[in-house]
Amino acid sequence: MNQATAPAKIILFGEHAVVHGQPAIAVPVTSMRVAVEAQAGTSPGIKIIATDVHTTTEIDLSPPSEDDGTLVQTVKLVLQKLKVTSLPSVTLTLTSSIPMGRGFGSGAAVSAALAKALCAALDYDIPSAELNDLVYEVEKAHHGNPSGLDNTVIVYQKPVFFIRGQPLETFEIKKPFTLLIGDTGYSTPTYQTVGDVGKLYKSEPDRIGKVFDEIGEIARQARQHIETGTVESLGSLMVRNHDLLQKLTVSSIQLDFLCEAALEAGALGAKLSGGGRGGNMIALVADERRQSVVDALYAAGAENVTVTRVGNRT
Ligand code: PMV
Repeated sequence: MNQATAPAKIILFGEHAVVHGQPAIAVPVTSMRVAVEAQAGTSPGIKIIATDVHTTTEIDLSPPSEDDGTLVQTVKLVLQKLKVTSLPSVTLTLTSSIPMGRGFGSGAAVSAALAKALCAALDYDIPSAELNDLVYEVEKAHHGNPSGLDNTVIVYQKPVFFIRGQPLETFEIKKPFTLLIGDTGYSTPTYQTVGDVGKLYKSEPDRIGKVFDEIGEIARQARQHIETGTVESLGSLMVRNHDLLQKLTVSSIQLDFLCEAALEAGALGAKLSGGGRGGNMIALVADERRQSVVDALYAAGAENVTVTRVGNRT
């Protein structure tokens, strides 16, 4: 039996501007994971059992198509890559603790764990760079114009300073810090917000280009603070980044409300995280304020609040 897992991810700084060439910072959230077990099947063919959503999918040998869902497309890309011409007998069982459609990168994590487990079952220890390319292919089919940030963090399972099209840069977290992730309980597809920001940029290139530049500068400063352990300084950078995301029109009343509630309860900083117009916000908290900020987020309507320690394998 072969098992592969992949973590969730959360973006700390730079979402949206990263699509337009600016750096972004994202980290794995190791407490949420997808796990895939590959076992020799009892009958010929590849079967994927997704236990959480109670579906079983059988794979045929037709080429990958844009109409395929994430699971089928991932498997077909692996078969194509390994030049498999007759279907092996494999059952892939998938379980996940990553909420879907909330900016945790569940799609990329499913694809990464599935591809890795299937490759292992076919005796191929897929190198991370190849796995990353494969997962990015799947992301492109389902998310329009993705920067590649999600798949990179999830495949390498490390904090990443990401610039689109440039080689991987990971970095050290000198001093761990605590983030609260507040879920608004609803979401807007990322391809939609990315598309809208693209249109806005096209209509006002100077103003929006400056917003992207400022976000990029914030991401660079944040990296320095994380590397030198001056993490308290990240708070004000988060607040500035959130203001700039508002200018990109990707915040929402609920996201603003949760960020304000977190700050009023003593968070050092707060911002939306990911595609926006729903999904998640993050708040940086000192340990003594943690519970009061969690309570404030629930009182302000968060559907769920996750506590994560960044820089520790929790
Ligand atoms: O929706 P999420 O959390 O996967 O974040 C998307 C991040 C964007 O920068 C908006 C898009 C991208 O492809 O990087």
